[in-house]
Amino acid sequence: MFGRRSNETAPPKRISSQENGQSAPLAQAEMKVAQQRQAAATTPQVAAPRVEVVEQQRKHSEEYYDVKTTVFNALIDTIDLTQLSKLDGPAAREEIRDIVSEIIQIKNVVMSIAEQEELLEDICNDVLGYGPLEPLLARDDIADIMVNGAGTTFIEVNGKVLKTGVRFADNQQLMNICQRIVSQVGRRVDESSPICDARLPDGSRVNVIAPPLAIDGPALTIRKFKKDRLRLEQLVKFGSITPQAKVILEVIGRVRCNTIISGGTGSGKTTLLNCLTGSIDMDERIITCEDSAELQLQQPHVVRLETRPPNLEGEGEIKMKDLIKNCLRMRPERIIVGEVRGPEAFDLLQAMNTGHDGSMGTLHANSPREALSRLESMIMQGGFALPIKTIREMICGSVDVIVQASRLRDGSRKITHITEVLGMEEETVTLQNIIVFEITGEDANGKIVGRHRSTGIARPRFWDRAEYYGETERLARALAESEVVDDNGNPLGEQ
Ligand SMILES: Nc1ncnc2c1ncn2[C@@H]1O[C@H](COP(=O)(O)OP(=O)(O)OP(=O)(O)O)[C@@H](O)[C@H]1O
Ligand SMILES: [Mg+2]
Repeated sequence: MFGRRSNETAPPKRISSQENGQSAPLAQAEMKVAQQRQAAATTPQVAAPRVEVVEQQRKHSEEYYDVKTTVFNALIDTIDLTQLSKLDGPAAREEIRDIVSEIIQIKNVVMSIAEQEELLEDICNDVLGYGPLEPLLARDDIADIMVNGAGTTFIEVNGKVLKTGVRFADNQQLMNICQRIVSQVGRRVDESSPICDARLPDGSRVNVIAPPLAIDGPALTIRKFKKDRLRLEQLVKFGSITPQAKVILEVIGRVRCNTIISGGTGSGKTTLLNCLTGSIDMDERIITCEDSAELQLQQPHVVRLETRPPNLEGEGEIKMKDLIKNCLRMRPERIIVGEVRGPEAFDLLQAMNTGHDGSMGTLHANSPREALSRLESMIMQGGFALPIKTIREMICGSVDVIVQASRLRDGSRKITHITEVLGMEEETVTLQNIIVFEITGEDANGKIVGRHRSTGIARPRFWDRAEYYGETERLARALAESEVVDDNGNPLGEQ
């Protein structure tokens, strides 16, 4: 024991766990009607996902937080932080628990064993870990944690966004935790540099934006790292694709089609990219370029590169464009770009065009057609004074396939298009859907009902590549089995 104990006594305090939260109303009636109307549409048009807010029951009463603050302050007065920092995690936790138990006794706080246990756990998390975030970080079913200031935290579980009862003592405590997170990767977040990207030790991706930019207190967003990355088999199990579409994706990945994965925020682009890389042959040299290393490739010959933000003096930034350029001097067979956001699009397309077949990247767009315009505008951002037709020809010459990922309004994630880039007609790039997801309705629980079907293309443009790799049989079977026939047994082609 090394704490400086105090014998001060205080009037007894009573705290109670109280469940005072209530479920917020879910969907409003008019939204339901609008959804049904939309669900009737047969095109795979995807509406913006509905944010479903379900207030999870608040765990504790105000008194609990008052007592916690009192005990916490007494602990900070008592404990010798220099000594504490010399202990390893479990020993430090044990020490804090001893001192907190003593403070509770001295201060005469009346609480049940269970309440006391929770208070001890909370305080240990505050001192040693990420405070109120710890229980959320420990859960593996959470995809995202979104903290909007000290009082409001949302999580995404099974595609649904839920409001939790997790709260921080105040914005200062939240800011301290943000600082603790980003300092682990040698960064700072404060008023003078209020935007920061970082990574938790487990690989989770973190973004912090602090006041004055975030008006209601620091906003912290965490994309939880999944220990077991989803694989194509699981996407089939979740209904995101059919077993046949899985085979088509595997062939696309293996036969070295240049592929762009397009999708909205959190639609599953990185997951899909990771799945696609699973079909790459084991003897290929792959170089990945990411802003925050998320991909987990299984191949033995992989070089992982990560961009770097500028330091406090505004120096030392390494952009995605720099990484891709450098890649070309590293004898890559494939280049995989986590996310294409800007002028690096030009460099990626050039790499695709110059003997690095099978390169892949993701970008934010809501449809394959929109992905093309995004590519165009990103190339123009780079200041290349190229005529639009030349840019489009470049895209056509580089990109073979666009795979569209979407998060539907019921929270489910689907692969809504596997689309080929065919060529140019006058000034327009022609696209050809191979597989589309078609919404047919909505069930009683609000789940979207639909089907993946082939558009009747028997020989996609990458057929020759498939032939070269001996994959035509698998491909032909998967395409044939994806056909949906009408009541008269005729295939339903592209509509
Ligand atoms: N088909 C799927 N079914 C269920 N969950 C999925 C599916 N695809 C992805 N997810 C989950 O959704 C979350 C977001 O996925 P991912 O990181 O791949 O999205 P993203 O589009 O790359 O997001 P961002 O735009 O933020 O980079 C992850 O937790 C992931 O495990
Ligand atoms: Mg991503």
